[in-house]
Amino acid sequence: MAESTLLSMAARGPDALQPGFVRTPATTACVRPTVARVDPTALIDNMRSIRRLVGDDVRVLGVVKADGYGHGAVQTARCALEAGAWGLAVSLVEEGVELRSAGVTAPIVVLGGPFPGSEPLVVACGLRPVVWDVEHLRRLASAARAAGGRCAVHLKIDTGMSRLGCLCDELPALLDCFSTECADVLDLEGAMTHLACADERDEAPTVRQLDAFTAALSTFEGRGLRPAIRHVCNSAGLSRFPNARYDMVRPGIAMYGSAGHTAYLLDGIRPALTVASRVFGLRTLPPGAQVSYGHTTTLQRESVIAIVPVGYEDGYPANLSGKAHVLIQGRRCPVVGRVTMDTSLIDVTDLPQVRVGDEVILLGRQDSEQIAAHDLASWSGITTYEVFCGISKRVPRS
Ligand SMILES: Cc1ncc(COP(=O)(O)O)c(C=O)c1O
Repeated sequence: MAESTLLSMAARGPDALQPGFVRTPATTACVRPTVARVDPTALIDNMRSIRRLVGDDVRVLGVVKADGYGHGAVQTARCALEAGAWGLAVSLVEEGVELRSAGVTAPIVVLGGPFPGSEPLVVACGLRPVVWDVEHLRRLASAARAAGGRCAVHLKIDTGMSRLGCLCDELPALLDCFSTECADVLDLEGAMTHLACADERDEAPTVRQLDAFTAALSTFEGRGLRPAIRHVCNSAGLSRFPNARYDMVRPGIAMYGSAGHTAYLLDGIRPALTVASRVFGLRTLPPGAQVSYGHTTTLQRESVIAIVPVGYEDGYPANLSGKAHVLIQGRRCPVVGRVTMDTSLIDVTDLPQVRVGDEVILLGRQDSEQIAAHDLASWSGITTYEVFCGISKRVPRS
């Protein structure tokens, strides 16, 4: 998107963020009963639990990229800040602009780095980009000079993720470029790295990354540079490697009440997202009936099948077919046959009281039963992150 468009969107506020978007009339906004409900109290409580765990000396940067992992970036940001987060992290400049347009004034770190052309917007919106290349520094410095302003940056070192960040042996040249060419307008606020294996059982790769980060910090020291905020840990990192919390931690998935791996679920957190629908129809089918595309399931007995209006277009993955359960009347009921684009079929033969209109929980709690993100992840062979981020825009959030 052109820089001028983004700048004018930032100036005009949240309604300007989707040019050409026509608001759905309220009467048609939520006809289909498939919805995602976000519990702000859970988001706030989760952030408070994280803050209690890390203590007052460690800042918390709430990661709200990818629309707050599907929970809604603006609402999640407000909850995180209400619970005492120092700031927020997004991936894209556009995501930072969305928060600023919604009135969020807290520090916003842009994890994905500054794409060429985004620098004036970064400076105008007071975003704090992660940088790892001399060109990032030079372009940001010239945008800051042109605007007569300053820009805080977080310098990222690639200690073993092999993705974003400067390699350890590139660091001296990058720091020299900062000191000699950019220090008049850029503030070296942060030094950071990202862990590749924080939720893997083997701790050795993380220990190697932490050693490399310690060595990188001495390179800063050797040049008289002391970034105020050193940060390394995502959710799994902050719970498993307390010595690596440094000055700030960057939890994402823990704030949403989940974990990459169930073994590293933080104490005291709970899921904030429920995805629910309702029984749209009921059909009694004879033994031997074959259901859904490909006839992958043949019914072994006379069965009552509930039709539920949710499918892979909503982010209910096709490979849940024949593996997942949903909750109806507080009981677990199996998904039968292939999940299709818009519809899933549930075997409710063992629920004699089931009625059209009954609530169906696809993700979340009903009475004492729960379908967790890691259940959906293990049934479908994806990660919990993909479960959250996969819930599509077609599912209204409330
Ligand atoms: C750089 C960085 N920090 C922190 C996080 C948050 O990770 P998690 O959701 O595992 O806490 C992410 C997420 O991908 C990230 O890319």
